[in-house]
Amino acid sequence: MKLVAPTAQSVAEAAQLLRDGRLVAFPTETVYGLGGDATNERAVAAIFEAKGRPEFNPLISHVLGSNEAKRFVRWNDTADRLAARFWPGPLTLVLPRSEGSPISLLATSGLDTVAIRAPSHPIAQALIRAADRPIAAPSANRSGAISPTRAEHVAESLGERVPLILDGGPCLVGVESTVLDLTGPTPTLLRPGGATREAIEAVIGPIAVSDALPSGDSARKSPGQLESHYAPARPVRLGASTVGADEGLLAFGPTVPQGAMLTYNLSPSGDLAEAAANLFAQMRLLDRPGIGRIAVMPIPETGLGLAINDRLRRAAAGDGTGRRG
Ligand code: TXA
Ligand code: MG
Repeated sequence: MKLVAPTAQSVAEAAQLLRDGRLVAFPTETVYGLGGDATNERAVAAIFEAKGRPEFNPLISHVLGSNEAKRFVRWNDTADRLAARFWPGPLTLVLPRSEGSPISLLATSGLDTVAIRAPSHPIAQALIRAADRPIAAPSANRSGAISPTRAEHVAESLGERVPLILDGGPCLVGVESTVLDLTGPTPTLLRPGGATREAIEAVIGPIAVSDALPSGDSARKSPGQLESHYAPARPVRLGASTVGADEGLLAFGPTVPQGAMLTYNLSPSGDLAEAAANLFAQMRLLDRPGIGRIAVMPIPETGLGLAINDRLRRAAAGDGTGRRG
């Protein structure tokens, strides 16, 4: 595995690997992606293998913009309005597969829909342009583990399973893209993420929220039913207003309880964008020997707080043995 700075030469090398059906980890504004040629079944199979994904969850195909997207999906007016506002950026649209779409069937788990997004990160864009094809990319970590927001996280998690990692530094958004399903009568939020519900609704009006999402109350009542995901090896305790001496504290805001073994603050000023950008890296820093449990202060359930709380609830649903779903 090679970890390299993104230069014209290394991006060209990465693009050639992709065209040869090999995998490349690359930065996006949300998290690092483990990319493969989205039109190549074997490359997509290699992604699942490298991640150790138990089932074939469908993957997002990354493109430069709506003109390219129209070759792979049946575009519509709602997609047009959303893309005008959010692309390139952290919004994934689920649309019907277009007739003759070359996107791998494995990439969509055999569904007749395709998840597609145009990332804003210049290195991601350069790579897609140089490869001259859509890139299927899940987060570049082993299945169920914490998503990588730095190149070193990718190296730690995937090691020799990925031949090349383009190091673009820390990801600015820090949580994955918002996934919005546009195939039904009402646009439906499948995963909260970097594009906020409020901003989406300002463009297209009220949207529905998938039942499958761990919303506050039901999640607290039955954490065991949540898909364990983004899981540190240590147990996670949410909504902490006090902290124990054996705990590592993930704090938020200016008023922090004292007494933790180790404390990181997602955002001392209480800024949700800063908190999202720090979330996965600080969870990793707290997930270490000597710490019995990770306590997390409450995060407001607005704006990017939806995505942050979704990831935290999934982290808390883990059984703390380090086994991943
Ligand atoms: O920010 C991101 O979205 C990152 C970067 C690398 O782009 N990617 C990412 O991919 O988070 P992944 O594979 O970890 O998550 C893809 C999400 C999953 O929740 C999956 O179920 C959903 O998108 N998805 C993919 N295709 C779908 C489809 N056809 N219908 C419904 N959901 C789909
Ligand atoms: Mg992931």
